[in-house]
Amino acid sequence: MVEQIRGRLLAPEARKISPTFSTAQMAALCGVDKSHLDYRITKGDLPVGQMLKARGKRSFSLSDLRTWTRTYRADKMRPAGKKAFTIAVGNFKGGVAKTTTAMVIAQGLSMRGHRVLAIDTDPQGSLTTLHGILPEAEVAEDMTIAPLCDGSKTDIRYAIRSTYWDGIDLVAAAPFLFSAEFALPARQMQDREARFWDVLNAGLESVRDLYDVIVIDTPPSLSYVTINALWAANGIIVPVPPSGLDFASSAQFWSLLADLGGNLDAQGAGHAGKSFDFLHVLLSRVDPTDPAMPAVRQWIAATYGEYMLPVEIPKTSVTSNKAAEFATVYDVQKYEGSARTYKRAADAYDAFVDLVEQSVVGTWHKPAPT
Ligand SMILES: Nc1ncnc2c1ncn2[C@@H]1O[C@H](COP(=O)(O)OP(=O)(O)OP(=O)(O)O)[C@@H](O)[C@H]1O
Ligand SMILES: [Mg+2]
Repeated sequence: MVEQIRGRLLAPEARKISPTFSTAQMAALCGVDKSHLDYRITKGDLPVGQMLKARGKRSFSLSDLRTWTRTYRADKMRPAGKKAFTIAVGNFKGGVAKTTTAMVIAQGLSMRGHRVLAIDTDPQGSLTTLHGILPEAEVAEDMTIAPLCDGSKTDIRYAIRSTYWDGIDLVAAAPFLFSAEFALPARQMQDREARFWDVLNAGLESVRDLYDVIVIDTPPSLSYVTINALWAANGIIVPVPPSGLDFASSAQFWSLLADLGGNLDAQGAGHAGKSFDFLHVLLSRVDPTDPAMPAVRQWIAATYGEYMLPVEIPKTSVTSNKAAEFATVYDVQKYEGSARTYKRAADAYDAFVDLVEQSVVGTWHKPAPT
């Protein structure tokens, strides 16, 4: 049934295709006005896109767009000698928009010119599904981190596949990844020197020169793979919807993370302690019609203070009325509902991705500690 639904939602291609972009969209992402872009197109040194006969307008592919943004946003690209920045999206509570957030970061940053590796560590495989791949039917072990976790591989490169989205490569997940929850502790029992929390981090080392940003989606639990994802990360983003229960369980996330960090730091004698370049709390799925929302939003602000990102993602129907399982706001080529509804959602995600990019670029340019 899942296969049939996917076929219907993605018809007629039966696979996902990435959107195309107008000159105005491209100008906004390049940070110039449209008239400058029209002029630059006449020079012909960058991809000129396709003329849409019917409307006399140009349309650019994602790959065209990325060539342009890399040119116009050169100061924000990863400097030579710097490594990929790894972001883990986590919260032990389910359904808070972790996967949506991870996908939007990957798409948004790749549209801005960065090369992204997306890693799904959740056996539910939702991030994999968002890439148009069915976890149960289309994901083999060697496309996932399972071999890394059971020790048969030590370098993630075997698992990387290109996707429908130019600029995003994927390490997929599927239900059999639950086996990692047994494999990781079993390895530790056999070999006391094994560092069960450092398996993903070590496996990523060889690709930190190949990508600009690595985005890891995590399962809604404190599991062995979640620990690996957090340990591999340079920055953590925790989406929290402003509702009482979600708030309470996101508070547990931080205390568990702190306990864990303390324990592993103590065990990893001889290794530097774990630190993060940023911890961001993102207000997600904010429903302005929920009477309890403003109060909970205030508790969250009072609790997290400067860790809260100065942007919030509204609850939106842009992706929920069509292909919710397979699309984010950036996949929508032409929204059939009201233009205001679409713009409100797109503006919020754009502002969010800009903030994430600023944090990442900021750390690339931070002077090395002396
Ligand atoms: N801004 C939003 N407005 C409306 N619905 C949203 C929004 N963001 C996410 N959703 C929907 O909420 C549901 C849960 O989102 P998502 O899968 O991203 O959460 P998750 O935290 O990854 O869940 P899980 O804990 O199961 O991994 C999905 O159906 C998604 O389409
Ligand atoms: Mg998820």
